[in-house]
Amino acid sequence: MVENHSQGYVYSPVARVLHWLIAGLIFAQFIIGWTMPDVHRDTLPTGEIAWHLSVGAAIVAVMVIRIAWRMTHPPEPATLSPQLSLASNATHWLLYILLVAVPLAGWANASARGWMVNLFGIVPFPALAPKGSPVGMALGDIHSVIAWVLVVLIALHIAAALFHRFVLRDSVLKRML
Ligand code: HEM
Ligand code: HEM
Repeated sequence: MVENHSQGYVYSPVARVLHWLIAGLIFAQFIIGWTMPDVHRDTLPTGEIAWHLSVGAAIVAVMVIRIAWRMTHPPEPATLSPQLSLASNATHWLLYILLVAVPLAGWANASARGWMVNLFGIVPFPALAPKGSPVGMALGDIHSVIAWVLVVLIALHIAAALFHRFVLRDSVLKRML
């Protein structure tokens, strides 16, 4: 925890780097996910799809570090009304849940398709589901649907950050910059 007495609490440098690294990876992953070719039964994991798998593996790896860091370094809560504090905690919890569930569903689907997931060709990830697994195949559709839920939550989260900065004019955004 880093205390800045003139401006109040700010997240530690590690927490801030992890937050913005994940934000960048997620934005990249949505652009790749939406522009890559449609995935069918006989599609091969090449080109943009290979990028989607590698960026996805990077998201999984960074999220493991981020969650471990967060559990061992809880931040100081922001000074908010009980209602705003509840909304903020609920959104952050849901964000964490989806930042785990969306990649895991995609990874299980890749495994069910018989695709190897690895971190930029260097670190191989184990298969999460056997090839042809019906559950793994169904998780492909779930992956696409819950990725949309994640988009909505991120939009809400960004709107809340801008609301704090420009309407409430408090220091919540500064905590993460
Ligand atoms: C938070 C991270 C991720 C986001 C935001 C994301 C987003 C997306 C999006 C938007 C699509 C296209 C859906 C559509 O147009 O129907 C997609 C498809 C897909 N993604 Fe991800 N993805 C993520 C992580 C991963 C990971 C980690 C993997 C595997 C290691 C993965 C594997 C796949 C596969 C296999 C598809 C095709 C699914 C199908 O069409 O059945 N994704 N993803
Ligand atoms: C993909 C995009 C993003 C994701 C997934 C994300 C996720 C998160 C999560 C999970 C937290 C909770 C941190 C914790 O207490 O452990 C958080 C905090 C925060 N985020 Fe984001 N974020 C994203 C983008 C942004 C953007 C673009 C902004 C600014 C416009 C922003 C501003 C903040 C702020 C100010 C906090 C701290 C709130 C507080 O003090 O309680 N985030 N973010």
